[in-house]
Amino acid sequence: MRTAMTSIISKNQIKPDLYSHSSGNNNYQNLIEFANNQSKLYCEVNPVSNRKLKGQIFTPPKIASFMAGLFTSQNKKISILDPGAGTGILVAALCDRFIQENRRNLDISIHVYENDKNVLPFLQSTLDACKNSLNEIGCSMEYQIFDNDFILHHAEVERSDGLTVYSLDLSTRYDLIISNPPYYKLNKSSPEALALQRYVYGQPNIYAFFMLLSGMLLSEKGEMVFITPRSFCSGLYYSKIRRWFVNTLTLDRLHLFETRKDIFVDDKILQENLIFHATSVQPKSNGKTLISVSYDRQFTQYQELTVPSSDVAYCRGDDCYIRIPISESDLKIIEIVDSWPQSLNVLGFEISTGPVVDFRAMKHLRATLENSNCVPLFWMHNIKGTDVEWSIGKNGKATAIEINPESKNLVVPTRNYVVLKRFTSKEQKKRVHAAVLNAEDFSKFEFIGLENHLNYIHKNRSLMTLDEAYGISALLNTTIIDQYFRALNGNTQVNATDIRSLSLPDYDKIIAIGKLARKKHLDPKFDCDEAI
Ligand SMILES: C[S@@+](CC[C@H](N)C(=O)[O-])C[C@H]1O[C@@H](n2cnc3c(N)ncnc32)[C@H](O)[C@@H]1O
Repeated sequence: MRTAMTSIISKNQIKPDLYSHSSGNNNYQNLIEFANNQSKLYCEVNPVSNRKLKGQIFTPPKIASFMAGLFTSQNKKISILDPGAGTGILVAALCDRFIQENRRNLDISIHVYENDKNVLPFLQSTLDACKNSLNEIGCSMEYQIFDNDFILHHAEVERSDGLTVYSLDLSTRYDLIISNPPYYKLNKSSPEALALQRYVYGQPNIYAFFMLLSGMLLSEKGEMVFITPRSFCSGLYYSKIRRWFVNTLTLDRLHLFETRKDIFVDDKILQENLIFHATSVQPKSNGKTLISVSYDRQFTQYQELTVPSSDVAYCRGDDCYIRIPISESDLKIIEIVDSWPQSLNVLGFEISTGPVVDFRAMKHLRATLENSNCVPLFWMHNIKGTDVEWSIGKNGKATAIEINPESKNLVVPTRNYVVLKRFTSKEQKKRVHAAVLNAEDFSKFEFIGLENHLNYIHKNRSLMTLDEAYGISALLNTTIIDQYFRALNGNTQVNATDIRSLSLPDYDKIIAIGKLARKKHLDPKFDCDEAI
């Protein structure tokens, strides 16, 4: 049911602060500080464990102020939305900016959504403080608090012939949307996921739905500023949302927190975060994006770089990515990789994930090759340098898998493969770690097992030659590809999809690299970059 409210009766033990700007008794320097104090009061009675379940992490003042500073609109009449408002610090930061800039005679309408009843009195105090302060400089301000679910509020439900059909109500549009959305996973069959079904791939996360729906609710030339995890920029899960985003909005501004540990330090939650500003305008082919980086929430070591927007929001066929180059050299690398004309699929290769999931295949796993039905099993720890070494053991893990009618689909034919670690640790020098599995080394086995933390590249219709395998592996191990992946995603996971849509040089070049890599491969000083 849709409800909007402008007054709330607090059931909380701790009462929100009252803000009086004109009385001279004002204890707060500004509205942001006031809202931040509301967050502190609220957090005193709501432990982080409770808040985490609701995706409730409040934005620190410096970040709120930075985000509010990214809007460019100079309109007099402004409609504003914060779709998961908490104690209202983001709206407070925006109102504070209008006051600091002495923007008189503004006509402001604010809608906020917050589905946690406990936080509503604090939110209302902040909004009252905003209203009072804006009125004092001659601006009119009205606000409405919607105490319900932001996504479901916009989902129209129709039932016909026993079927539930959802459509979206996008009738109310906003000029400025500011948000630090909640972060939690949703079930694929949840009403939120059904309402946005066209954009769901795999298990959805509420934050991406907040972004998507907000983008849809922008008025013409409307602007949105969000702080989100970086995960939506790459990978399969967010691919449909990303495609909509990249094709519909112009991403003019990105801020990346390079060392993210510090951002939400009070709540001890580690996130890889970025802030973006997007405008509801079709992206131009010659547009520019300003990217900034800082190393903590105090914005120390702040650096900026202006880059072609086409290097950031990038589509190859249906796959769209948001890449974040943070230096001239990242930019150069993106341009080199983009100039390569091929891809794995075009060259006739495919990448798959190792089919042996250890806990599911437990009853088929063996410590040794104990009978003639057993074949070698390879894990991430079997990748050593640019080779695959079966003899390396780790923590008593199984070294073999027994083939039987139940497990026969878990093994793959013994062929040349390029094997890649799906996960690398933060400490590891490179994001992508590839090695060659040489079929000759295991020729007495018809099949082998590849554990699920490995991806492997193989040929669709024929056998991969060693020149091909060494060429692809050497290329993937270069600093160029490493730096490219760092600009592509902020995590240490290397997805098969990302490798699949990576641009590659022409086949002849891959073979030339492969021949060189094979010649040098027993040389301990061999360096893939030099080979390239
Ligand atoms: C990450 S917090 C951010 C709060 C505030 N905007 C800030 O920046 O400090 C997200 C807020 O959204 C609220 N929330 C979670 N799910 C929601 C939903 N489906 N609809 C509306 N609000 C929601 C949470 O209770 C929480 O207060």
